[in-house]
Amino acid sequence: MNSKQQISLRKDQHIQLALQDKHQGVELSPFEKIQFEHRPLPELALDDVVVRSEFLGRSITAPIMIGAMTGGCDQGERINRHLTEAAQAYGVPMALGSQRAALELQHGYNIRHYAPSAILLGNLGGTQLQQGGLELAQRAVDAIQADALVIHLNPLQELVQPNGDRDWRQVLEAIAHTVANLGVPVVVKEVGAGIGPTTACQLAEVGVRFIDIAGRGGTNWASIELARNGSALEREIAKPFTRWGSDTADLLPAVKAACPDLLLIGSGGVRHGIDVARCLRLGANITALAHYFLPAALESTQAVIDKLFILEQQLRWTLFLTGSRDLAALTTAPLCNANG
Ligand SMILES: Cc1cc2nc3c(=O)[nH]c(=O)nc-3n(C[C@H](O)[C@H](O)[C@H](O)COP(=O)(O)O)c2cc1C
Repeated sequence: MNSKQQISLRKDQHIQLALQDKHQGVELSPFEKIQFEHRPLPELALDDVVVRSEFLGRSITAPIMIGAMTGGCDQGERINRHLTEAAQAYGVPMALGSQRAALELQHGYNIRHYAPSAILLGNLGGTQLQQGGLELAQRAVDAIQADALVIHLNPLQELVQPNGDRDWRQVLEAIAHTVANLGVPVVVKEVGAGIGPTTACQLAEVGVRFIDIAGRGGTNWASIELARNGSALEREIAKPFTRWGSDTADLLPAVKAACPDLLLIGSGGVRHGIDVARCLRLGANITALAHYFLPAALESTQAVIDKLFILEQQLRWTLFLTGSRDLAALTTAPLCNANG
């Protein structure tokens, strides 16, 4: 099997494993510690509630983004077609999964075709950027006429992954160079272990304006790679790290306090519209969900649209039950715990 076939196989295995509950966060979601005060006197009609929002200077239906999932595998085109068509129809942004394999394989399809006017975000890994530089970043953007490029930082996943990238030197420098020279905004994300205040401020200092928290509580990539790793020795080393990282619900307020000018994407373990509202209350400007959409993405465009509708309604109900007419009011909705 050549290296391109290996990447494609790995991506297919990732999808199958990500669907299994045992690789999701702990049973009690870390978001449960954030409880809104219930307002039985909302003094609103449900129809008054407005969740329309803005991202990258454009109007969107709700502060919800379809999170980055795989780009290069046998199932990739079908999944991405369903996701992009749904993003286009519903008026929300969609982040593509890593374009590494697609750029290497020179896939003939361009998902922009399915979503001519949706906000689409490209995706590369931090170590791919370190190796391929601005030229690779530009190719990723051009391949889908991306409105922004996401750089994912996944050092834990790479450590657990058989033959994963171990050299993470000069990634910050590569990001800084890309931010300064790429014509579209750069978003930096984790994949489920979270970006904390120290890293967020390092990134802000080199000009990054968008951070996707991608904290612990949802899809657990250390656990998924552990399941793929055939070496008993590597598995034993990796085992305690399956709980490594910080919860999205803890990271959002911490990053907001440390770097108030950053625009934050709340993600990692967001399971429904109440969690979307929790992220927004804790400082996020928008939220992203990956696993939530995966089963629907395997099925059809309509199934993804249905999942978006459910999320939007759950968010509306949460605003209603907290007496919040709009998203600005939600940011000061009373909480019943110390995190307010
Ligand atoms: C099947 C699958 C593939 C993923 N592939 C990528 C990827 O290529 N690039 C990336 O930045 N994140 C990738 N992610 C990580 C998600 O974008 C997200 O950060 C993580 O899954 C946590 O969010 P969740 O709890 O909503 O799943 C992937 C997630 C899933 C479920």
